[in-house]
Amino acid sequence: MPPTRPFTALACIALAVAPATLSAQSAGSAVLRIDAGKVAAHVSPKLYGLMTEEINFSYDGGLYAELVRNRSFMEDAKEPVHWTLVQEGGGTATMALDPSQKFNDAIPTSLKLTITQASAAVSQRVGIANEGFWGIPVRPNTRYRASFYAKAGAGFSGPITISIVSNQGATVHASAQVPGLTDAWRKYEVALSTGNAPVSAANHLLISAAAPGAVWFNMVSLFPPTFEGRPNGNRPDIMRLLADMKPAFLRFPGGNYLEGGTIATRFDWKKTIGDISQRPGHMDDAWHYWSSDGMGLLEFLQWCEDLRMEPLLAVYAGYSMNRQGLQRVAPGRDLEPYVQEALDEIEYVTGSASTIWGARRVKDGHPAPFPLTYVEIGNEDNFDRAGGGTYDARYAQFFDAIKAKYPKLQVIATTPVTTRTPDVIDEHYYRNSEDQMASYAHMYDDRSRSGPKVFVGEWATRVGRPTPNMSAALGDAAWMTGMERNSDLVIMSSYAPLFVNVNPGGMQWPTDLIGYDAVASYGSPAYYAQKMFSLYHGDVVLPVEARDVPTRLWQPPAPTPRRGPNGEAPATPATPPPAPPAQQVPTLFFDATLSTATHTMFLKIVNRAAAPQPVRIEIGGLASLDPKGQSIVLSAASPDDTNSIAVPNRVVPVATPIDGLGPSFTRTFPPYSITVLQLQGK
Ligand code: AHR
Repeated sequence: MPPTRPFTALACIALAVAPATLSAQSAGSAVLRIDAGKVAAHVSPKLYGLMTEEINFSYDGGLYAELVRNRSFMEDAKEPVHWTLVQEGGGTATMALDPSQKFNDAIPTSLKLTITQASAAVSQRVGIANEGFWGIPVRPNTRYRASFYAKAGAGFSGPITISIVSNQGATVHASAQVPGLTDAWRKYEVALSTGNAPVSAANHLLISAAAPGAVWFNMVSLFPPTFEGRPNGNRPDIMRLLADMKPAFLRFPGGNYLEGGTIATRFDWKKTIGDISQRPGHMDDAWHYWSSDGMGLLEFLQWCEDLRMEPLLAVYAGYSMNRQGLQRVAPGRDLEPYVQEALDEIEYVTGSASTIWGARRVKDGHPAPFPLTYVEIGNEDNFDRAGGGTYDARYAQFFDAIKAKYPKLQVIATTPVTTRTPDVIDEHYYRNSEDQMASYAHMYDDRSRSGPKVFVGEWATRVGRPTPNMSAALGDAAWMTGMERNSDLVIMSSYAPLFVNVNPGGMQWPTDLIGYDAVASYGSPAYYAQKMFSLYHGDVVLPVEARDVPTRLWQPPAPTPRRGPNGEAPATPATPPPAPPAQQVPTLFFDATLSTATHTMFLKIVNRAAAPQPVRIEIGGLASLDPKGQSIVLSAASPDDTNSIAVPNRVVPVATPIDGLGPSFTRTFPPYSITVLQLQGK
């Protein structure tokens, strides 16, 4: 049955011509009439997912639990950045990168510590200290796994001590010794256990010795306990925040991180698999910092497995971000190796042990193939198209090759194409104000259903930094009612960016869903809004007729001039473009879904206004309705209210039992609030 088209009346309100006043049109009761006996659309089971890339220190310094920064000394060709030389008690030494003593072919350098004066007898100690990612987190009674590769020059008698030490006062929180080194590279592993130390981030990792000689180091690693104990795994606190959202899929590895600034710095997946000591890492020149690639292709897939998400794999499609025309691969022969790279990648993800890349995945420790339904070709190739680019032809080449080998895979285009009919189009919506985002919330109501399905692969109301505030959450919630209501068309969605390390210098892109530092993490109000949408919905959308929906006048910003096709700065126009007409935008948004299995109805109401909003709710089409139900409310005293490391729970949802429900009832929704009413029908 084709979905009926709800909300036509409301869509008209959203576009109504503005009266000449900026005051909110305060209404009395709005009226919502819900027909629980009709299905307007089906809710896609994959509607709520996640999108991720290496931005804002998402993995290194974020989810990926490695604590040592620049562990392979590859981050800078000249200096061992993030490492310092420690000389205590009159001990003397130098440290320098030493490419003449390469670690291996993937990591053709090492760090040489030359100890000229040191003696345990007189407490002379020298060593190398790593600052971590804004500190090394210490927690009480915690076991860390430390490891490093080292070799010694002739005459060095060791031992080597590895410790976690406070920056102030040099308190040793945990320490272990490695006895003798040899003249060949060898891996050393020890456990470091803290005692009853308070939680702190102002610590460093120290590798020291008290005897003269030369020692070379590489792949120095320190892991705290990880989510479900996975080796090379993830931070448990951040994983729990994600797990609580019950996301259906993970779009990875980008975003601009997939493309890279250049072809050489794209996400080159084959260099991200296998033993971490064989991964060269690469400069994330989309976001301007080093990526260890410890979060490689298999780690992304295991992350999916741990949270029961399906991978949504974005493959490099021959377009990098340097828009000078040099970083594009021409369709045809030149593109063939990249198409093959994508086919190999899909084989790594899904292939059996009898395939070349499936066998490689088995060797890497994961015998079972991963599920895969969607493959996305590139990222934001609308920027390429704007320059008269080649996406149409590139998409067709990938599409044909993937469909020939994997006919069941759904192939996502990142912008509309004419050469093939894509299964799905990825659309991105970043909006700079709550009203602006809300003004788009009805855009899918009238979209033709005859074209490809839509994946809103990146979206956000960009208000608040580093993480969104309540105003952003209200804009997001308004927008999500639109996606959920149109989920027959919008089959998947994922907010972006997902993460930010809130330390100074940690953020490249403001307004990110989840914030953290070395020891703590928190969800923003927008995180909680999404969690509510993801957890509380049925499988069908119910038609809702609305009356007397309040609105407020919004002045859209003047359009920003576009960059030229090759990224040139826009010319300043002689006369600035006229401001677009003001618009009335609703302050009340809503949608209703029903679980056909349990007859539970989920009514979502977003009140963006500063005043409480009474709403008369009339429900038809149910045999009966339990007078008792539940309300889950996210609200704030001000739209500027937010969460932070210091106050992580200022804005969080509150669930309360409610009574007095029936086929017709009135409820008043608090100012600045997002509510799910959970009603039980029969
Ligand atoms: O989410 C940040 C960036 O925004 C993504 O990398 C890119 O796809 C988009 O332009």
